[in-house]
Amino acid sequence: MSAGTHHTIGQTGVPAAATAAAYIRQTVGAVWRDPVAGIVLGSGLGGLADRLENTVRMPFSRVPGFPTATVAGHAGQLLYGTLAGRPVVMLAGRFHMYEGHEAPLAAFPVRVLHALGAPVYVASNAAGGVRRTFVPGDLMLVADHINLMFRNPLIGPTESGDERFPDMSDPYDAALRALMHDAAAAVNVPLQDGVYCGLLGPTYETPAEVRMLERLGADAVGMSTVPEVIMARAIGMRAVAVSCITNKAAGLSHEKLNHQEVMDAGKAVAGRFESLVIEFVRRL
Ligand code: HPA
Repeated sequence: MSAGTHHTIGQTGVPAAATAAAYIRQTVGAVWRDPVAGIVLGSGLGGLADRLENTVRMPFSRVPGFPTATVAGHAGQLLYGTLAGRPVVMLAGRFHMYEGHEAPLAAFPVRVLHALGAPVYVASNAAGGVRRTFVPGDLMLVADHINLMFRNPLIGPTESGDERFPDMSDPYDAALRALMHDAAAAVNVPLQDGVYCGLLGPTYETPAEVRMLERLGADAVGMSTVPEVIMARAIGMRAVAVSCITNKAAGLSHEKLNHQEVMDAGKAVAGRFESLVIEFVRRL
């Protein structure tokens, strides 16, 4: 922990989430209304934060229990405000395990959103397209996931209120997925269902790994979201996730992968992604 920070990195459980939530509520002040959703913005998708109205912002570094986000493209801000007139909490940035964070910390923001009263968790991410027909700029609604991170945020003693053995037969809420499809149709944004596979990173995959993922049933591959959705299910939040396909996964095109291209592709679909999520929140 660097000098001057006012909290201990690594406090990630229920009491720590309550402390973070108290700080956020207090910072928002009198205009606070319980959020209809907590929304995390993935790489290149931070533009939705600018669509928020009546915004109150706080840097991650101010939120008790949050470390400072480090990845380029992740502003590292928590925002409170309204989308389509409905209160939401938004995180521009997240804590990836490839940064060295343990799974409980990667999932900690979800605990905080829950402590703030959000019944719905909306994840977004940048992902490589494993399904061969996916092209950069496609949006995929996550129908299910495969956890190849080999980590789980629930390892350790059970926190009060957590399920010890959470059911994962319906991790992405069917009614919310239907609502997302309705929203996509309403704003004329193509949205295809698929399976997201989470890997630790930070390397992109090898072509052989991508062929393996394809055989395993993955449609997209990324380095986030899975710990967060596991946490959401364990604490009784309904979850939904949208992947922005920023590139064909390794070996499926002749391009080499780099983070800048991922970011640029994210920005190219940002407009469609923003319309989709705003319309979704309107329907919540
Ligand atoms: N692999 C893993 N994570 C990613 C990719 C990818 O190809 N693109 C964006 N995030």
